Amino acid sequence: MEVYEAISKRMTIRDFAQKAIPPQITERILSAGLQAPSNDHLRRWEFILVEDRQQREKLVSKIHPPQTQKGTAALVKRMQLNDDNQQEMYQRAIPKQQSMLLDAALLVIPCFRPSGDLLQPETLSSLNCFASIWCCVENILIAAASEGIFGVTRIPFEPERAHLHKVLHIPAEYEVPCYLALGYPAESAKRARQIPIETSARIHQNTW
Ligand SMILES: Cc1cc2nc3c(=O)[nH]c(=O)nc-3n(C[C@H](O)[C@H](O)[C@H](O)COP(=O)(O)O)c2cc1C
Repeated sequence: MEVYEAISKRMTIRDFAQKAIPPQITERILSAGLQAPSNDHLRRWEFILVEDRQQREKLVSKIHPPQTQKGTAALVKRMQLNDDNQQEMYQRAIPKQQSMLLDAALLVIPCFRPSGDLLQPETLSSLNCFASIWCCVENILIAAASEGIFGVTRIPFEPERAHLHKVLHIPAEYEVPCYLALGYPAESAKRARQIPIETSARIHQNTW
């Protein structure tokens, strides 16, 4: 698949078909991740593939999204969002925060090695290692799309962060930017309604 096609086909999905990803495809798309630009040239990135069901259940046990439409609507209301597309996306996404990680064919936990205290950066460039791992994640998502594989990233909230480290024995000097769930889409999987963007309206010539 041509690169622009893979970029435009990439979408977030949270409903997966029960179909395994062949190991050589997994390796190919993770290899695409490892070719992303890296701030310090070191690409200190590791991937934990959580295949074992029990291990996955343990991992996601701190995630408790509301499961009813009403509960979700109340949460979305508290978020005070003005855009209809955004509200709709959250309304559909929130109840799936745990199931999407359990049901995906592949659950990848990317790990990166920060160069300082990420939560107390001295300058914006102190966050370059964090920016770099997201370049890696995006390469993976685009490579996966080119294989007909899609998925979702979830940011671990505070109780999840320590839990991930404990359950997966992640060395203290590494951090996890996101859970990365990948798989073939279920028939019911639908991309969230997109907010139209006109590229030319976002381009400024010489000055804002
Ligand atoms: C940094 C980042 C964090 C995200 N966090 C979550 C998340 O915690 N849970 C989730 O379901 N989706 C998450 N997403 C997916 C977004 O909701 C999704 O990318 C967005 O709605 C746009 O849809 P699209 O990817 O189909 O274009 C995240 C995406 C990014 C880039």
